[in-house]
Amino acid sequence: MSGRRRLTQGAVALALAAFAAVPALSEIKSGTEFLSPDMRRQQADETRNPAFFWVEQGRELFSRKPTPDGQACVSCHADPQQSLRGAATHYPQVDAATAKLLNLEGRIEQCRVERQGQPAFGYESPELLAMTAYLGSLSRGLPVEVKTDGAARPYYEAGKAFFERRQGQLNLSCQQCHDGLVGQKLRGDTVSHGAGTGYPAYRLEWNDVGSLHRRLRACSLGVRATQFDYGSPEYLALELYLAGRAKGLPVETPGMRR
Ligand code: HEC
Ligand code: HEC
Repeated sequence: MSGRRRLTQGAVALALAAFAAVPALSEIKSGTEFLSPDMRRQQADETRNPAFFWVEQGRELFSRKPTPDGQACVSCHADPQQSLRGAATHYPQVDAATAKLLNLEGRIEQCRVERQGQPAFGYESPELLAMTAYLGSLSRGLPVEVKTDGAARPYYEAGKAFFERRQGQLNLSCQQCHDGLVGQKLRGDTVSHGAGTGYPAYRLEWNDVGSLHRRLRACSLGVRATQFDYGSPEYLALELYLAGRAKGLPVETPGMRR
């Protein structure tokens, strides 16, 4: 920590004046780059990254019949390592049938309800986290490839506007921290670009796996701004914008964070 400037909330505004430059999109880095070397090793090691427990649960759930004569996910999605490899790289995406923006969680819930005929798992339920972590893990190492044009454009623009808007009692935009303070220390964390490519992730502070929207809620709370609901249109649009910024970066689910 020596030599590195530690920022308190009160010092954020001062530091921002010095780090106003917005990096070119090609410079956006994964959250992993900002982890301590030990945390990075732990994330990569399936035996030491606790989030792989959720991946394992998701794998089991994928093959389990919801009722004795019901269909498991795997009944329709045979050989998921192949058939669903890369699926996570395309989310969020606009659902052709409803024209609504769906993230991976939303797509899983859609299949669960409409094709499996079961009640939704519910956002942030252990089941949905496990399933999302599992399907995310099938895309590990593949580049994020979301669509940001066509039908996705208005959502992307809404996410961008949200990202750039100052909010909360601290009157800070996402951009001021995740472009302006990248590499700086803030409450013990090193500020990253907010790429979101490691979620769902195991966070030590949560002692649990959480979704990207849980992380977004923590950032909203951090600036004393409105916390939107899990799966809300606001966070879905933000998620698309973050994924658009992260295009080309590898999916790293399940990540590990402080
Ligand atoms: C009755 C068959 C059926 C069942 C059961 C089913 N699905 Fe699906 N699923 C589909 C079909 C059909 C699609 C659309 C395929 C397409 O055209 O992209 C789909 C799409 C998906 C996608 C999007 C893939 C992509 O490339 O975008 C995911 C993820 C998914 N399903 C997960 C699940 C999960 C998780 C379960 C279990 C909770 C499940 N599905 C149960 C039939 C099913
Ligand atoms: C006061 C500064 C600040 C503001 C404003 C802020 N964040 Fe964060 N954010 C952080 C810190 C600190 C972390 C934890 C370290 C890191 O990964 O950047 C974090 C983490 C994240 C992460 C997780 C990155 C990862 O790889 O784990 C995402 C995504 C994110 N923020 C998005 C946002 C969005 C979107 C907004 C606007 C709603 C926002 N943040 C507002 C400081 C901020």
